[in-house]
Amino acid sequence: MKTLVYDIKELNNDSLKKIDEVAMILRNGGVVAFPTETVYGLGADALNHKAVSKIFKAKGRPSDNPLIVHISDIEQCYSLTNSFTETIKKLAERFWPGPLTIIVPKSNIVPDITTGGLDTVAIRMPDHPVALELIRRSGCPVAAPSANLSGRPSPTKGEHVMEDMFGKIDAIIKSGDCKVGIESTILDLTEDAPSILRPGILTPEELSNAIGQVVKIDPAINNVVDDNFVPKAPGMKYAHYAPNAEMIIFQGERDRVIKEIERIKEEREKKGDRVGVILYNDQSYLEAAHELFAKLREFDKQN
Ligand code: TXA
Ligand code: MG
Repeated sequence: MKTLVYDIKELNNDSLKKIDEVAMILRNGGVVAFPTETVYGLGADALNHKAVSKIFKAKGRPSDNPLIVHISDIEQCYSLTNSFTETIKKLAERFWPGPLTIIVPKSNIVPDITTGGLDTVAIRMPDHPVALELIRRSGCPVAAPSANLSGRPSPTKGEHVMEDMFGKIDAIIKSGDCKVGIESTILDLTEDAPSILRPGILTPEELSNAIGQVVKIDPAINNVVDDNFVPKAPGMKYAHYAPNAEMIIFQGERDRVIKEIERIKEEREKKGDRVGVILYNDQSYLEAAHELFAKLREFDKQN
């Protein structure tokens, strides 16, 4: 398949023309990769069953894993859900455009394929000028998972998308590095108590403050090996962010963590393995989020 590649760093007359071309592809049922502030997305017209099915095919994604619907204007929510609440309004005012996805009851216009057969829909307004302009000009809400092959680390640079998607989709917009670097926080608003289904850069405290209500964390997130907890976001049950190499996470008291990393590193290197170590200061979580996926892909490249 022929993939058109566009390099768009900023909005100007020339780049707006290119965005118009890509928007036309979306409107005609094509699949295109585009930048957002979190990670790159793989978009198609969220209301077009056939277009959305091409996303699942390009990614190799299980069909029970629903997609996030991206909007450029809050009014688009009114047609995607029939229950637009005061809470949604507060969250939108405070965090959109931005790295927050909300789960709400879906309206009839949203096809089952987009929501993986669920009667709820995930909605987000990305904070990226190219994404917003693309959605606006396409005239449709845009269903978009992260633009990686299913299971691989999410793409945070144009080259990552080229690696995974070139030749598989209609167009790719490259636009430098994603600012945030990890996916949006997913907040479920369909139960009495709002709860986080996927952690992201926005914290439960920030969300609580905005809506004046306690925000819980889905217990399945911290019990991934316990079969009694089934995550409510279907995507959380599949292996994801997985580099080709084996990955070990060390957690605990600083000095013991350092010792243990050194011990394992030595042990592995003696066996002839190559070992890469990713370290951040305790406080540098923004930097860590920004770089993590890119580091994982870099290590794979270095074997
Ligand atoms: O930052 C992001 O959210 C990126 C950019 C492209 O916007 N998108 C993204 O999409 O991470 P994806 O498809 O990689 O992850 C979507 C997650 C999956 O875990 C999926 O199961 C969950 O959202 N999800 C989608 N719709 C849902 C629903 N109705 N109920 C529960 N979980 C849902
Ligand atoms: Mg993903």
